[in-house]
Amino acid sequence: MSSSSRSSSNTYFVFNHSSSIICFENGLIISFIYFGVQFTARIKYSPEEEARLERQHFWRIIDAFRFYRVHVGEQVKRAERQFLSLPQHHQDLLPNVLSNLSRISQCADHNQELLQAIVHNSLHMFENIEYGERENSQKVRPSTTFDMDKLKSTIKQFVRDWSEVGRAERDSCYQPIIHEIQRLFPSDKYDVSKVSVLVPGAGLGRLAWEIARLGYICQGNEWSFFMLFSSNFVLNRCEQVNSLTVYPWIHQYSNNKKSSDQTRPVRFPDVNPQSLPLDADFSMVAGDFVEVYSDPESWDCVATCFFIDTAHNVIEYVESIWKILKPGGVWINLGPLLYHFENMANELSVELSYEDIRTAIVKSGFHIEMEKQSVQTTYTENECSMLRYVYDCVFFVARKPADVHFNCQEDDQQQISPPAAKSPRREGTDSLT
Ligand SMILES: C[S@@+](CC[C@H](N)C(=O)[O-])C[C@H]1O[C@@H](n2cnc3c(N)ncnc32)[C@H](O)[C@@H]1O
Repeated sequence: MSSSSRSSSNTYFVFNHSSSIICFENGLIISFIYFGVQFTARIKYSPEEEARLERQHFWRIIDAFRFYRVHVGEQVKRAERQFLSLPQHHQDLLPNVLSNLSRISQCADHNQELLQAIVHNSLHMFENIEYGERENSQKVRPSTTFDMDKLKSTIKQFVRDWSEVGRAERDSCYQPIIHEIQRLFPSDKYDVSKVSVLVPGAGLGRLAWEIARLGYICQGNEWSFFMLFSSNFVLNRCEQVNSLTVYPWIHQYSNNKKSSDQTRPVRFPDVNPQSLPLDADFSMVAGDFVEVYSDPESWDCVATCFFIDTAHNVIEYVESIWKILKPGGVWINLGPLLYHFENMANELSVELSYEDIRTAIVKSGFHIEMEKQSVQTTYTENECSMLRYVYDCVFFVARKPADVHFNCQEDDQQQISPPAAKSPRREGTDSLT
């Protein structure tokens, strides 16, 4: 397990390839750990090239945050044009359409202010890595539709993780996992401050934060800069409950019952993210789960929520989780299998059924101690929408038996066979959101 610490010193951010600690202003708050992102790719890159690609990726995501307003503005203009192309007598029957579009524009302005604040806090977030300054740093550069979709998904993630509106969804996704952790590591039998829980694919960090709030050591791990910038903002810059507003639904033009549904605000954070107990041990680590976590027998528990389908090859995740769990440790998983790379050209994507994954889990040596194959949940649901998805998730607890010890020979073999080929720093399609 990577070490993390809390500090009462001023803000400092560190980045290196082993472990780095980012602490926060106002003292003693929450620590972020940043791991250098390594590029495991078909082509082997030199360290210089890796650094260049990493920088390029960083700025691409910053550009996406800055371009948002222009992108939404173009959509609004298109909607206006379409409306104004209707025969006048049709327009006369629809007196509220233009005012609603104008309201959407105002909401987009507001969202852009929030995104600017996130960017502002992200530019120099690491003490030992700089992504350089840019010429015309305030210049808004065009972004792709793909990145805009990722950004809109990230905006909706604020609702899921940090708003009162998202509570029911969190109750259906996070509570079953938290309940299992408390059942398996009860505070009357364990010193929970010594029980370590890893949450790969932590999103905006709420599940990991809740686990840390209960006194467990908890580390969230996340790959996407969209999520990392945003979680850094909410965890370190937001203190006042419900002091911020976001308009997450303005991008949805279909399936609205009322026009005002599209522009309704959501307030966040529903709790003060900085209100963890002083002795809580909570950290966030950036990087690819498989690459960052290779220390064997390090964790008591790995908790994955809507995560395993982000893999190019889900068996690689099973293998990593087996390796990093201590003997007797548990893997708790809840989620669907909506494979993120399924429709991406030139990306490895192996779309296995749960039945096949389960077979591989058992053959790897795990004992499945609890299993529910039908847990209904939503993901960043718009509760007013006329279209709502329900995921029929699998939920299980798999234990690595206590009498199994890490096999060095096996590790050597694993190191010889390279991880699944993938392109550097590509975000998967987040079709969930
Ligand atoms: C569907 S989201 C789920 C987020 C969160 N667990 C939740 O339930 O709200 C999957 C998350 O995994 C992250 N992710 C994808 N591949 C990853 C990887 N290889 N390592 C770490 N995180 C990854 C994505 O960026 C995304 O935030």
